[in-house]
Amino acid sequence: MANRAAVILAAGQGTRMRSTLPKVLHEVGGRPMIDWSIAVAKSVGCDRIIVVCAPSAKALQSHVEAQLGRDCIAIQDPPLGTGHAVSQAQETLRDFDGELVVLCGDVPLIRSETVEALFAEIQSGAGIGVLGFEAADPGAYGRLITDADGNLEAIVEAKEATPEQLAVSFCNSGVIGARSKTMFDLLSRVTNDNAKGEYYLTDIVGLARADGATCRTVSCDEADVMGINTRVQLAEAEAAFQARKRSEVLASGVTMTAPEKVFFSHDTVIENDVTIEPNVVFAPGVTIRSGARVRAFSHLEGAEIGAGASIGPYVRLRPGAVLEQGVKIGNFVEVKNTRMGEGAQASHLSYLGDGEIGAGANIGAGTIFCNYDGFLKYKTTVGKGAFVGSNSALVAPVTIGDGAYVGSGSVITKDVEPNALAVARGRQMQKAGWATAFRDKMAAVKAAKKKG
Ligand code: UD1
Ligand code: MG
Repeated sequence: MANRAAVILAAGQGTRMRSTLPKVLHEVGGRPMIDWSIAVAKSVGCDRIIVVCAPSAKALQSHVEAQLGRDCIAIQDPPLGTGHAVSQAQETLRDFDGELVVLCGDVPLIRSETVEALFAEIQSGAGIGVLGFEAADPGAYGRLITDADGNLEAIVEAKEATPEQLAVSFCNSGVIGARSKTMFDLLSRVTNDNAKGEYYLTDIVGLARADGATCRTVSCDEADVMGINTRVQLAEAEAAFQARKRSEVLASGVTMTAPEKVFFSHDTVIENDVTIEPNVVFAPGVTIRSGARVRAFSHLEGAEIGAGASIGPYVRLRPGAVLEQGVKIGNFVEVKNTRMGEGAQASHLSYLGDGEIGAGANIGAGTIFCNYDGFLKYKTTVGKGAFVGSNSALVAPVTIGDGAYVGSGSVITKDVEPNALAVARGRQMQKAGWATAFRDKMAAVKAAKKKG
């Protein structure tokens, strides 16, 4: 495969988000926008990725550095336009010779296939490839001016366009590909002699044409290249992502009775023949195996759900919840950092944190794993086939042996041997006739008070 690099533009101020967080760290589908761009770049084989950042966007720089290393950040100071932004990556890429794509950090939903198609145009001889779309409202987008053969002649920014050019609805997405040498050579000749006084990346098309090169366009849906500048657009991108993911999930053989009421993350994995009821939210990191059922009003994050398991309604799974095949979790049960073995059950009202529950164990209603003393967390182990009676508190660290019983209402602070019964609660006593005597006495006291 060809040598490939991506330059991701993310030095814009993003003031319209009205946020202290850099714009591209806002999330779509539970993943920061910048990570969508990085993921696309990686998926098309870019082994060099440069993110152009503003000097003030420290949180963004640390975020990128943690993933790609310091070398993958180029600082643009001050921002003098999209062409100037791409030029900031030139120094880092001086030893690179290959195909280069410019992505925008605020365009999260672009598809890998589309970027591949752009590279394909470069490979079949185009000097520049530009990703375009038919805009419902072309507004401020750059217009793609093509000739009779469909070759791209120029990109004209809306501010520079004639009324005739403004009538064109085929618009520039901002995603542009070329060989790296071509890109940087053309950029070195771009000037800022225009309406905005900026160095426009888009000017490289006219320059390439003047050099005799062919420029090509690739088309995609507008929804795939929507740019995010405001919270309204962020919400629109989220809706577009959810719609796309719901269709994919349905097509892969999952039943959803009300798909519009199920919310996914970018990385949600659901196997076929799973059923998901309405009002379920998937935060990142969830995998569900075939045949499982997720019932209404459940929130799942960082969890693995085994084949045929049944979850909910009203379940909360937090990171590290691993439910093996056939596990059953009922209403108002929270599971965190706990593995439940095959066929284990917790049907009602429990907190199961930092634990290990053996296959076939039964956790009674209202059981609490007391895992935290205000400083540290401790582990609770419940053995295979054990039975924990309702309303029990298991004070960790503690182990309930295989096959053991815990009597209801117990506060268990010591390990329980396999197959034993442990009861740790006040012993029940009974006084025959006590209630009758009590009532008679109190009625007399009350009557005496009324008289006096
Ligand atoms: C740009 C295109 C326009 C296209 C539109 C698509 C140019 C000149 N125009 O316009 O044809 O239709 O995108 O949305 O390229 N950025 C920097 N540094 C800068 C300026 C911008 O990093 O100095 C980044 C922004 O953060 C953003 C991207 O580049 O991610 C695009 O910038 P933006 O200001 O949105 O460009 P537009 O004027 O909208
Ligand atoms: Mg823009």
